[in-house]
Amino acid sequence: MLRSLLIYLSKADWARRTVTRWSVARRVASRFIAGETLEDAIRVVRELNKKGINATLDHLGEHTTSPEIARRSTQDVLEMFGAIQKAKVCSNVSIKLTQIGLALDPDLCAQNLAEILRRAHETGSFVRVDMEDSPWVDKTLGMARRMRETLGFERVGVVIQSCLFRSEADIRQLGEEGIRVRLCKGAYKEPADVAYPQKADVDSSYDRLTRLLIDNSRALGCPELSVDGILPPYPALATHDEARIDNAIAYTRQTRFPQRAIEFQMLNGIRRDLQEKLAAEGYPVRVYVPYGSEWYPYFTRRLAERPANLWFFISNFFRK
Ligand code: FDA
Repeated sequence: MLRSLLIYLSKADWARRTVTRWSVARRVASRFIAGETLEDAIRVVRELNKKGINATLDHLGEHTTSPEIARRSTQDVLEMFGAIQKAKVCSNVSIKLTQIGLALDPDLCAQNLAEILRRAHETGSFVRVDMEDSPWVDKTLGMARRMRETLGFERVGVVIQSCLFRSEADIRQLGEEGIRVRLCKGAYKEPADVAYPQKADVDSSYDRLTRLLIDNSRALGCPELSVDGILPPYPALATHDEARIDNAIAYTRQTRFPQRAIEFQMLNGIRRDLQEKLAAEGYPVRVYVPYGSEWYPYFTRRLAERPANLWFFISNFFRK
């Protein structure tokens, strides 16, 4: 109920206008968001790298409303590759397709994405296309496939959500195509005809899909994290849930799957202890580092995931 309300609020313009004016909201959001500028984000990545943790940078923004804004968002992404190279930090890039125009015009989005992937290819980077809510899944996977077919670049990966019924079939097909997958539970409120309503089912689906990704990777020769830390292994498990991580590690041990052929991913500001523990044990770990001024929907989804975050926000609001 509370989660549904917060996810509704994450898309409500009136709520965004109200909340982003509150300085306390910005303060609480700063736990998750690296800052407003690319320099802020590079600083956070550098600190992570010192601990042996890689990153993926995300310039916040989604559902752009005009071709000009989609173009500007594309330019912002292009800038990231140069900044990463110049700073010599270990990070690749994550983007949302509605940020670069998917909701406006698929051809405009394809043009923007092709430019981004060309730059990724030239700079030896990698682009992970984030997954948005279920109406976007076919379009997002279709766009990633179109890029691989027309440009032939390997350096693009996708995200699959364990809450969706369709995900097993998607992972099977992506395995045949050799497209790298980040597995997450799913951050959006989905209708009961497309997604598991119960958390326990989302969790067991996550465990099943983890095993399937590991099996797919074996069939592809267990590609490991690249030496420069940029190109991820085939399966990237994005979760802070220790039971899910334990399941993955148990399966890798049972099947003698190489430690460097799997990556654990977490969000900036969440479970730093677990990030460091896994990195110290020798697993590739990557932290998702978002930055920029469009932090409202991202922040509200983080509140929705954990009621304690909301209470923390409210108590700060009354303390200000
Ligand atoms: P779960 O929600 O069960 O949480 C497990 C434990 O983790 C909690 O008990 C708590 O300790 C901690 N935790 C989780 N969320 C927290 C929070 N917000 N604040 C504090 N503690 C928290 N989703 C999507 O739909 N599309 C995408 O492209 C991505 N991309 C993505 C990348 C990366 C690197 C990560 C880690 C996550 C995503 N997600 C995503 C979000 C994902 O779908 C999911 O909503 C969150 O990761 C929370 O789910 P957990 O797997 O952590 O489990």
